[in-house]
Amino acid sequence: MSEARKILVTSALPYANGSIHLGHMLEYIQTDMWVRFQKMRGNQCIYVCADDAHGSAIMLRAEQEGISPEQLIENVHAEHSADFANFLVEFDNFYTTHSEENRELSEEIYKRLKNAGHIATRSVTQYFDPEKGMFLADRFIKGTCPKCATADQYGDNCEKCGATYHPTELKDPRSAISGATPILKDSEHYFFKLPNFQNMLQEWTRSGTLQDSVANKLAEWLDSGLHEWDISRDAPYFGFEIPDAPGKYFYVWLDAPIGYMASFKNLCARRPELDFDEFWSKDSNTELYHFIGKDIINFHALFWPAMLDGAGFRKPSFVNVHGYLTVNGAKMSKSRGTFIKASTYLDHLNPEYLRYYYASKLGRGVEDLDLNLDDFIQKVNSDLVGKVVNIASRCAGFIQKGNDGMLVADMPNPELWERFQAASPSIAKAYEARDFARAMRETMALADAANAWIADKAPWSMNKVEGQQAQVQAICSQAINLFKQLVILLKPVLPKLTADAEQFLNVPPLSWDDLGTTLGAHQLNPFSALLTRVEPKHVTAMIESSKEDLLEMENISNPDAVAGNGELEKEPIAKEIDFNAFAAVDLRIALIEKASFVEGADKLLQLTLDLGGEKRNVFSGIKSAYPDPAVLEGRLTLYVANLAARKMKFGVSEGMVLAAGPGGKEIHLLSPDAGARPGQRVM
Ligand code: MSP
Ligand code: ZN
Repeated sequence: MSEARKILVTSALPYANGSIHLGHMLEYIQTDMWVRFQKMRGNQCIYVCADDAHGSAIMLRAEQEGISPEQLIENVHAEHSADFANFLVEFDNFYTTHSEENRELSEEIYKRLKNAGHIATRSVTQYFDPEKGMFLADRFIKGTCPKCATADQYGDNCEKCGATYHPTELKDPRSAISGATPILKDSEHYFFKLPNFQNMLQEWTRSGTLQDSVANKLAEWLDSGLHEWDISRDAPYFGFEIPDAPGKYFYVWLDAPIGYMASFKNLCARRPELDFDEFWSKDSNTELYHFIGKDIINFHALFWPAMLDGAGFRKPSFVNVHGYLTVNGAKMSKSRGTFIKASTYLDHLNPEYLRYYYASKLGRGVEDLDLNLDDFIQKVNSDLVGKVVNIASRCAGFIQKGNDGMLVADMPNPELWERFQAASPSIAKAYEARDFARAMRETMALADAANAWIADKAPWSMNKVEGQQAQVQAICSQAINLFKQLVILLKPVLPKLTADAEQFLNVPPLSWDDLGTTLGAHQLNPFSALLTRVEPKHVTAMIESSKEDLLEMENISNPDAVAGNGELEKEPIAKEIDFNAFAAVDLRIALIEKASFVEGADKLLQLTLDLGGEKRNVFSGIKSAYPDPAVLEGRLTLYVANLAARKMKFGVSEGMVLAAGPGGKEIHLLSPDAGARPGQRVM
């Protein structure tokens, strides 16, 4: 056997200002499957990740929620960790970029780059929000498109006509944060001299470190010439201050990839067998693999290897790029309910269904991957339940009843066993090359062959014939051995199913080498269902919940606070409005005539409101606070009567009732004091 490889693997660090959704999960599941495969092969494979905790988006969201950025990233870290664990993504370390290790490494790398002459400074003119006292990133500037005159477009591109421009070309620019008119202001910025690395990158990108299509894309960028990269941001900013540059911070994308190193360093402190320098020094013999999405190629295949090279560290062995997830053939959409959060999926479905579906569709390319929900149901049921689990569930009973669960060592179909043996190197090769789709195809072809053989022998018929029972035991024992082979081949994809199967097979955790052995005369444990079928109604319910996730957010004033932690009291006062805007809201006293559950909705109540004769129908996301909706009947509440009606799956919701609280159980309808009568206008 060749010597075990030492491999450090990363997935991109998710931003700490939002929930994990099924698009993210594509990457973490892809990486996790590869890591599990490497571990099963006996390699030393370490998988690290972290939350990407810095940047102005996180600073502003924390402000909006009335909490510190530190508190925000801590809350999100807990949420992300749970989502990953529940999807069976097993990091060796899931850390944060807001750590001491990362601060030290970022400073160190910066100093080394600076000493080597790779840092420049110069003045940059940018839009500045005079009210908020901060420079505005492009996405925080809105205005009228200079090409087609559509209002309310972002600072760098127009959603209407697709034009791209510089924020200073926008007409009537506004700060998206305060609404103020931004002014142009100069400030000193720090730049990383990327052009110094042109030759190195030209060579590195062509040295087998990238998929071909990615290398070709990069060749285009490299041929058109590299630009210096702006790595500083002015205060206020949530991040690390640049050494010897008070008020200047590292741009989040400088310290984010260094977060890979920092997470590993943090792990080294806990795992004495790991040596930081062995993995990161220039002459390292270990491998470094990054898994990323196609939107962040330039950061990982240009800036990052250049930073590492300039600072005297090793460069990545491979950057693996995947495409974007679409659902039912289209971009994930909140209103269609296809913007599915990891936690919403888990409320309804088994994580291994999705792991298998992704595996079955993930090839080596960077094309987008479609989660077609009908295909998802069909494929999981037919392959996992119908082909794989079926082998064990068909045969286990005969062994249990006919031989007390004891396998016999006979192998009545040696050719079929041989076929399984012959196929496994090719499947290993597919896993190694991250061609999970091929690995699944070849594995399912084996499952088909096993099922065809069992169906042909029909042990259920033979068992009724006197004198053939010994044959039945032999056939079913071989079938269980073939099932064991399939379990090993699927283990990187289905860790939970595999663990349950190991329990049934009564064997210690299986590794790739166990493909070489048969179970022999071996005692099984009683069989219990390993996987149930995907129920279409659960998929429908997940889609409905995803729509409600959005609705619940819209139903209270501060959408982000729903996902947060309920400290609404501390929410800062919103931007000033004039009296006309205020007077435009038709706020009424409404009598709740009827309150009832909505079939198929987890979070909604349907309310019939009486406005002193006129009736209105409203759907409100307050179900968890009112498990018995009848208590609301006869109560008065406040109602926005002139809000545009909203068409929902369950019907049209007219206007909105006012509620307060962080969400979930902790949200309550507002009640007017005595003296109010239905229909009365409040403002
Ligand atoms: N914080 C940066 C990465 C820093 S790495 C040093 C970031 N975060 S992210 O949360 O936006 O994305 C994390 C990963 O998820 C990225 O690799 C991104 O490509 C991937 N995906 C995000 N949305 C996705 C889909 N809809 N589909 C597939 N992958 C997607 O980028
Ligand atoms: Zn336009």
